[in-house]
Amino acid sequence: MNKMFSFPSRIADTDYLPSIQFPDKLYHNMARIGTGNQGKLILDRFIVFEGIDGAGTTTQIRLLAERCAQEGIPVHTTGEPTENCIGKTIRRILKGEHRVHPSTMPFLFAADRNEHLYGEDGILSWIEKGFWVLCDRYIFSSLAYQTIENDYPLVRELNDRFPLPRILFYLEVPPETGIDRIQTRETKEIYEVLSFQRKVHQQYRKVLSVYKNSGMEIKIFDGTAPMESIHEEMWNFLKKFRY
Ligand code: TYD
Repeated sequence: MNKMFSFPSRIADTDYLPSIQFPDKLYHNMARIGTGNQGKLILDRFIVFEGIDGAGTTTQIRLLAERCAQEGIPVHTTGEPTENCIGKTIRRILKGEHRVHPSTMPFLFAADRNEHLYGEDGILSWIEKGFWVLCDRYIFSSLAYQTIENDYPLVRELNDRFPLPRILFYLEVPPETGIDRIQTRETKEIYEVLSFQRKVHQQYRKVLSVYKNSGMEIKIFDGTAPMESIHEEMWNFLKKFRY
């Protein structure tokens, strides 16, 4: 381990799960996936939404959260970069207010993620309380975006320590469509350039194939379809996880 990089030591599957009081219901279909599935820990009721910029993840999370609320399902929505101090720093960098070396970015996103998972009011605390957690971006964003300017193994290593979600929803849109959709946003971020988004789009394909047999459910949607029909498809898919 690089001495400059003082993350807590790698968390073994068993280190923190026993400390969490999972409600009985939540324990259903939970949480550990054996080595046959790449030895990854999978958190039940943790649902991640991914896609290139402009893919529509934020809209789908909103629709799903509303639907869950209507159905009386406790749901917590969140996303990365977070609103905590590390996430705010990342957002300033993305807006071009600060400049950092590209190799710093995967570390920042990983630090933000670590806090997002384990920190006060973090993802694990919500899962522990029995909520579904809907998360706009997670490790897959780092693997798709930060690997454009950094080596894949570095980014993978930084993110290998984090548990996988039970479900990954990927919204597939062509880079041109994504860029078109975000044209109207007032502030541009450093990654919101067509040539970069094309590369991210390609990287996502690789990332999805890497995780194909991880035990996590991966569902890909045509992100160019009407938002209501994507939502219905998502809801129907999720029904099999309800209990
Ligand atoms: P985004 O979801 O687009 O936030 P907003 O809609 O509020 O602008 O996320 C901001 C950017 O952060 C987006 O371009 C993707 C990028 N990102 C990474 O590059 N790596 C990561 O690990 C994460 C979580 C996000």
